[in-house]
Amino acid sequence: MIGLGEGENFLGSDVAAFVEHTRNALAIGQDEIVAITPEGVEVTDFSGAPVEVEPFEVTWDASAAEKGGWSSFMAKEVSEEPEAVANTLRGRIHEGQVEIPELDGMDEFLADIDRILVIACGTAAYAGMVGKYALETWTRVPVDVELAHEFRYRDPVLSARTLVVSISQSGETMDTLMAVKYARSRGAKTLSICNTQGATIPRESDAIVYTHAGPEVAVASTKAFVAQITALYLLALHVGRVRGAIDPVVAVEAVTELEAVPGKIARVLETEQSRIEQLAHWMADTRSVLFLGRNVGYPIALEGALKLKELAYIHAEGFAAGELKHGPIALIEPGQPVFVVVPSPRGSGEMHKKVVSNIEEIRARGARVIAIAEEGDVAVLPAADEVLRIPLAAPLFEPLLAVVPLHIFAMGLAEAKGLDVDQPRNLAKSVTVE
Ligand code: AGP
Repeated sequence: MIGLGEGENFLGSDVAAFVEHTRNALAIGQDEIVAITPEGVEVTDFSGAPVEVEPFEVTWDASAAEKGGWSSFMAKEVSEEPEAVANTLRGRIHEGQVEIPELDGMDEFLADIDRILVIACGTAAYAGMVGKYALETWTRVPVDVELAHEFRYRDPVLSARTLVVSISQSGETMDTLMAVKYARSRGAKTLSICNTQGATIPRESDAIVYTHAGPEVAVASTKAFVAQITALYLLALHVGRVRGAIDPVVAVEAVTELEAVPGKIARVLETEQSRIEQLAHWMADTRSVLFLGRNVGYPIALEGALKLKELAYIHAEGFAAGELKHGPIALIEPGQPVFVVVPSPRGSGEMHKKVVSNIEEIRARGARVIAIAEEGDVAVLPAADEVLRIPLAAPLFEPLLAVVPLHIFAMGLAEAKGLDVDQPRNLAKSVTVE
């Protein structure tokens, strides 16, 4: 990235390197050469021909990239999860309906797609797995979610009617970048959901929907995750509206739910954070934790397990709750801690009953169950050892709330073990190698 200052110019791998000096930036593409002096910046290709590069203004200031008195960047970024959602929503809802300005002019294409393929890695892939439920519910277009590094090395069936949606906080993940290039080479249209302005993946995509979580410095992705799910829900509502696939009443209800999410996340942070941190300190010697979820709660179980691996360096595994009796239940022994994401008992409550039954199965074998359940859910109380509460929300919106206790828990356990929460061993914030 290039920073354009007054009588000075900067070169950095990310705008955070120079944003305290200038917010006027240039993003340099592949195979380009930059000549930089205090007086100016010249960009050419390898043949020496000048390359036109459009400057852009960085939308956040230096303080956003500082710790600001927090014990860690991760603690700061978890506290910013409400505003990450709110800022991603901003400017994309007009009179109760979703209109994403970056997708202007794409209505005809979006009305014609016959398949959506979501590609990403790690936490971003789990956001894609949550987004799949909303995309299929509101657009009625079949959706597949694939790990970018797996997609890249198979012979997928793609066409001009396939929309490939990449998700990347950094926009520099090489696995995802190469998968996007591969998809384009196979004739698909690509849309990037990214949190870093001017990054490589958005620049290599046909369309961009930025998340506005602000700079995410901690290696473990938290606020970007909830912002990615928010962007996917906005995309689903936008495409559903364009295709006439969503009932306008359902769309308005969904928008109302989305707009309530920041306040609900804030409520979880206010009411549950200290209790979860205490729980993490009590469990500091834990050697293994399992996570169970069903439906939209399943990707949240995977995300909770990944955070614990990344931060506390212990064995952690997420399962679809329905998979227990197909093998994983053999892992249950007395004292085994298991987090369970419990669906709402409201409505048919069928999913709720199944998950409470799963809890009873593992409790009968000695598991120590920490349930994440909505306020007022009393049926879960006799089944679980601990219940962490989240505010009421429609089923599709629960993941945005249920993940917050798991982010807090993983951070608390790492702190209890005296580990580096922001820079865990062996990991980089952006994996720029394949
Ligand atoms: C998440 O906590 C991890 N740091 C990692 O799985 C990350 O989500 C993955 O490497 C993708 O990164 P990206 O979103 O920048 O592409």
